[in-house]
Amino acid sequence: MLLLLHFVLLIDVKDFALTEGNVIIPLCQKGYFPCGNMSKCLPRAFHCDGVDDCGNGADEENCGDASGWATIFGTVHGSVNNVTVTQECFLSQYPEHCDCKETELECVDADLRTVPTLSHNVTLLSLKKNKILSLPDKVFIKYTELKKIFLQYNCIRHISRKAFFGLYNLQILYLNHNHITSLRSGVFEDLHQLTWLILDDNPITRISQRLFTGLNSLFFLSMVDNHLEALPKQMCAQMPQLNWMDLEGNRIKRLRNSTFLSCSSLTVLFLPRNQIDFVPEKTFSSLKNLGELDLSNNKITELPPHLLKDLKLLQKLNLSSNPLLYLHKNQFESLKQLQSLDLERIEIPNINTRMFQPMKNLSHIYFKNFRYCSYAPHVRICMPSTDGISSFEDLLANNILRVFVWVIAFITCFGNLFVIGMRSFIKAENTTHALSIKVLCCADCLMGVYLLFIGFFDMRYRGQYQKYALLWMESVQCRLMGFLAMLSTEVSVLLLTYLTLEKFLVIVFPFSNVRPGRRQTSLSLGCIWLVGFLIAAIPFWDEDYFGNFYGQNGVCFPLYHDQTEDIGSKVYSLGIFLGVNLLAFLIIAFSYVTMFCSIQKTTLQTSEVRTHLGREVAVANRFFFIVFSDAICWIPVFVVKILSLFQVEIPGTITSWIVIFFLPVNSALNPILYTLTTSVFKDKLKQLLHKHRRKSIFKIKKKSLSTSIVWTDDSSSLKLGILNKITLGENVRRNKIFKQDVPYC
Ligand SMILES: *[C@@H]1O[C@H](CO)[C@@H](O)[C@H](O)[C@H]1NC(C)=O
Ligand SMILES: *[C@@H]1O[C@H](CO)[C@@H](O)[C@H](O)[C@H]1NC(C)=O
Ligand SMILES: *[C@@H]1O[C@H](CO)[C@@H](O)[C@H](O)[C@H]1NC(C)=O
Ligand SMILES: *[C@@H]1O[C@H](CO)[C@@H](O)[C@H](O)[C@H]1NC(C)=O
Ligand SMILES: *[C@@H]1O[C@H](CO)[C@@H](O)[C@H](O)[C@H]1NC(C)=O
Ligand SMILES: *[C@@H]1O[C@H](CO)[C@@H](O)[C@H](O)[C@H]1NC(C)=O
Repeated sequence: MLLLLHFVLLIDVKDFALTEGNVIIPLCQKGYFPCGNMSKCLPRAFHCDGVDDCGNGADEENCGDASGWATIFGTVHGSVNNVTVTQECFLSQYPEHCDCKETELECVDADLRTVPTLSHNVTLLSLKKNKILSLPDKVFIKYTELKKIFLQYNCIRHISRKAFFGLYNLQILYLNHNHITSLRSGVFEDLHQLTWLILDDNPITRISQRLFTGLNSLFFLSMVDNHLEALPKQMCAQMPQLNWMDLEGNRIKRLRNSTFLSCSSLTVLFLPRNQIDFVPEKTFSSLKNLGELDLSNNKITELPPHLLKDLKLLQKLNLSSNPLLYLHKNQFESLKQLQSLDLERIEIPNINTRMFQPMKNLSHIYFKNFRYCSYAPHVRICMPSTDGISSFEDLLANNILRVFVWVIAFITCFGNLFVIGMRSFIKAENTTHALSIKVLCCADCLMGVYLLFIGFFDMRYRGQYQKYALLWMESVQCRLMGFLAMLSTEVSVLLLTYLTLEKFLVIVFPFSNVRPGRRQTSLSLGCIWLVGFLIAAIPFWDEDYFGNFYGQNGVCFPLYHDQTEDIGSKVYSLGIFLGVNLLAFLIIAFSYVTMFCSIQKTTLQTSEVRTHLGREVAVANRFFFIVFSDAICWIPVFVVKILSLFQVEIPGTITSWIVIFFLPVNSALNPILYTLTTSVFKDKLKQLLHKHRRKSIFKIKKKSLSTSIVWTDDSSSLKLGILNKITLGENVRRNKIFKQDVPYC
């Protein structure tokens, strides 16, 4: 028994990495094993199937591994390559194309259509890759010494009930990759010594309990990729020694509570890729020695609460890819020895820490999403290892983001504070507009504050995030930060729209006197803040409906929600980002395009052709830049949201880049775009500087500045004094309007 458990452990280890002497055997995917020292990996099914699938024989070599397999399987395959040359043959009669060594015979790919006639004392018979069609009655009856028969890769359709009669010493029988559709009851009757029976890749649809009559010693049964639809009432009634049962890839629909009743020796039970939809309560209750259970890729929607109660020795459990709706809170309670638990692709709405706590020995756990990892903080390896934002160890998994969060936070904070300061310091002609800009900077500044906090908490939890992840996401701080970020984003978006519309009205309808006064502006700004505040605060309203709206990820920003999270928060997030924000973005884009066209028309009417082109490019540049910065910031968000509508899974990495990088870009750029590049500001700034350090450069430059839009790049030939000049010769009133409005753009 211990040996067998050891065996299970070995399989487990194979999933990760093996060192053999000094040679590091390559790391293979789960369920695959390495081909010796080659970098090739093969599926488990190819291991020891009697075919050299690796090309270097490695897949057949380990069958004679000293740790358990040896006693079961013998060392047959290891010496296969060595047969002919050195060894004497003790068989007097065998077909031409066969290799004989002592009493073992290999007739691989020898074009045989029937089992050939041989000397009686053959002990191993390999007829792999021939064209044998059927096994008639008593075909092996003379070869009572036979211990191993390999019949894989033939065309066997029919096996007579008495085909294996008299094989009292047979230990190993391979019948995989044939066309067997049914096996008659009693066909293995005489195989009292059989330990190993491989029936993989046959279209067998039914097996009866009496089929296994006589298989008292059977240890390993594999029926992978058959067409079984049901299992006998008591699978192991005739096979008390059965230790390993692999029924992967069948069409089994139901398991009964008696199916595994007498399988008390079973240590490994594979049932993946079937159509099991329900497992009754006591199904596994007699599997006291079970070490590995694989029920992945089935259609199980519910597991009875005490199903796993008696599996005290279970070390590996795979439930992945089942449409489970619910896991009972004590489901895993008695799995004290469990080391690996696979719950990939399973939604666990009622997940909590107590669910995983009893499994003290658990070292590997696989979840559908990273967020669940915080519910199993004691498990050493949790997959997926990151949601793209956080990792098991750190709030911000990516080092670039970790640095950028500070850089962008400082740029945003100081940029905006600086502009607020400058705006207050320098008296603008248009005070209402200046007010709007200041308010915009305030909103953008909040984004900087939010990022500073993210940076701070990232530092605080560095290296031990898994312990705090849950607390953090549930915490008031996280919610407040989410609120802050949302408030900042929404107020900023609404303000930009407001500013754009204001400008739009003035430029497109220059003669209508619809300019808002100071009071109206203050009122509008107040309203915008109120709306922003409401948008950000509504999720706190009803915790039941929205769930933890902000605490969905480490950065507390509700950008992306899993398909099946609280429907309320999903819809709300969608409504904000794809409703309000997309609309705002479209308005901004549309307004700037219209304004650009309108200005271009005016230019064509008034200015000389020579200067015309440069100016136009410059206007286009500036407008393009404003819309472009908005686009950089918002288009990724829209794309993510639209994709999530189509149920596309968004890698978390994208979310984190958007939150830390793209969204704040707008906040960081807004002060520059809306103030630092305007000529009045530059003018004033230079005057100031000039006062302090009397440098002649500025005097010269100052001349070239006009009270209109000036492109940032002074050295560029695209310097633009455009609108002021455009309007020369036009009526004074219009000129005045432009002078007042456009400089702040
Ligand atoms: C669980 O089963 C799935 C599918 O059958 C497989 O891909 C995965 O590797 C298994 N997990 C473990 C831990 O072996
Ligand atoms: C792999 O092992 C074989 C012998 O077992 C040896 O000849 C070959 O050089 C090895 N290859 C590598 C890459 O180590
Ligand atoms: C070939 O067989 C002989 C005798 O059984 C053994 O000593 C030798 O190691 C084998 N060689 C290989 C390469 O397996
Ligand atoms: C049986 O095998 C022995 C060697 O083990 C050999 O000497 C003898 O000739 C074989 N008998 C027959 C009938 O093939
Ligand atoms: C198995 O289920 C049947 C009903 O389906 C029930 O009568 C029987 O008691 C159960 N057996 C065990 C061992 O629980
Ligand atoms: C955990 O596993 C180790 C061996 O891997 C074993 O000695 C220990 O008893 C196990 N712990 C529990 C609680 O079963």
